[in-house]
Amino acid sequence: MFLSGKRILLIIGGGIAAYKSLDLIRRLRERGASVRAVMTSAAQEFITPLSVGALTADHVFTDLFDRQDEQDVGHIRLSREADLIVVAPATADLMAKLANGHANDLASAVLLATDKKVLMAPAMNPRMWANPATRRNRATLEKDGIHFIGPMKGEMAESNEAGEGRMAEPLQIVGAIEELLDARPKPLSGRKIIVTSGPTHEPIDPVRYIANRSSGKQGHSLAAALARLGADVRLVSGPVTIADPAGVKTVHVESAREMRDAVEQLLPADAAVFVAAVADWRTDNAAGEKIKKVAGEGPPALQMVENPDILAGVGHHAKRPYLVVGFAAETQDVLKNAQAKLARKGADFIVANDVSHEGGVMGGDRNRVKIVSKSGVDEWPDLPKEEVAERLAQLIADRLRTVTV
Ligand SMILES: Cc1cc2nc3c(=O)[nH]c(=O)nc-3n(C[C@H](O)[C@H](O)[C@H](O)COP(=O)(O)O)c2cc1C
Repeated sequence: MFLSGKRILLIIGGGIAAYKSLDLIRRLRERGASVRAVMTSAAQEFITPLSVGALTADHVFTDLFDRQDEQDVGHIRLSREADLIVVAPATADLMAKLANGHANDLASAVLLATDKKVLMAPAMNPRMWANPATRRNRATLEKDGIHFIGPMKGEMAESNEAGEGRMAEPLQIVGAIEELLDARPKPLSGRKIIVTSGPTHEPIDPVRYIANRSSGKQGHSLAAALARLGADVRLVSGPVTIADPAGVKTVHVESAREMRDAVEQLLPADAAVFVAAVADWRTDNAAGEKIKKVAGEGPPALQMVENPDILAGVGHHAKRPYLVVGFAAETQDVLKNAQAKLARKGADFIVANDVSHEGGVMGGDRNRVKIVSKSGVDEWPDLPKEEVAERLAQLIADRLRTVTV
C-alpha cells in the first residue's frame, strides 16, 4: 500500500464538510497511513472528537493550552511528527489565519510552526470563496508553497446553493496526498497520455439508453497511476458515479461518438489507453420524444447500427500515438479474441480480461488480466484494480522510455 507507514496530521476546520473528513480518515487508514487529528473549536460544532478519535484510533487534539497535551506532545512536535499536514475542510477563516500568520489556537499554531508540506481542501459557500479577501488569501498561501485540492463546483450541503466551493471528495484528497508524498522518479513527465474509462450511454429516447456494467474503476485508477508517474493525463470518461481522479484533466462524455470526438481532439499524444467499455452498437432511430407505451401496439422496433471503433480509429490514425493500448473484455475465448483484436485494431498490446460470470470483473474491485502483444502473453495474477493500474502504468513508462520526446 502506497501510504503505508505515512503519518498524516489532519486539521479539521469548522464547516459543514467536516463530516466528509470522517470518511477521509477511513480512506487514509485503509491505505496504511496513520492519522492524527486536530479539531478547531468550530469543527466540534459539526462533528465530535469522539467520532474522530474512534476513526483515527488516537487522541484528538483540540486545545492549544491543554497542559497535558502540551506536556505529552506539544504543538511543535505535533506539527513536525507528520509527513504531511492536511487541512480538510479548510475554512475561509483558517485560510485567512495562515495567510496572515495568526497562531491563536492549536490549528493555526501548528500550521505556522510546521516545516512539512501542507495541503488544504477548501470548503465554503461560493460567495465566501469568490470574495476578494479569500482570493487574496489563497494567492498568498499558494505563493508561500501551500498546496490546494479543490474546491469543486457543484451543489452545496446548504439548501438551494450551488457553485464553486464544495470540498473535494475524500478519494480526490487521498489522490492529492499520494501525489504530494510520492518521492519516486517521474519517468512519464513530459508525456501526454489519453485514457478512456467507463461505459457509454446510447440513447433510445430522451429518458432511456443502452449501457453496460462498466464502473470506470480500472480506467480511473490507471489515469491516476499514470499521473503519479508524472504524465499529463487526459481522461475521457463515460457516465460513472466515481470521482474524477486527482491530478488528471477529465472530459465527460455520454455516447461512443462523443467519446471518439473527444479522443480525436486530444491527439497528438505519446500514448493512448482505451479502457472504456464502448457500446458496439447504438440505435439508428433514437426518438426525440419519450416513446409512449401504446396498448396493443407492442414494443418499438429498435434499429441498431455499429458505433465507431475508437481503438481501431486511433490505431490506424495519421496522428497515431507511439503507444496504443486496448482493453478486451471477453466472456469466452479471452486469449484468442485478444490476439485477433491486436492485429485488427493496430494496437501495441491488448489487456484482456475475463468478464464472464466467474471472472466477474465488471463493476468489481479486482481484475485478472493477460497482456497480449506480438511478443507473447503475460498472465498477471488476480489483483486489486489499483495494483493492475500501477503495473500497467509502469509497463507503459518502460515502453515509452526508449522514445525521445
Ligand atoms: C452552519 C454553518 C456552516 C458553516 N460552514 C462553513 C463552511 O463550509 N466554510 C467556512 O469557511 N465557514 C463555514 N462556517 C463559518 C465557520 O464555522 C466560522 O468562520 C468559524 O469561525 C471557522 O472556524 P475555524 O476556521 O477555526 O474552524 C459555517 C458556519 C455555520 C454556522
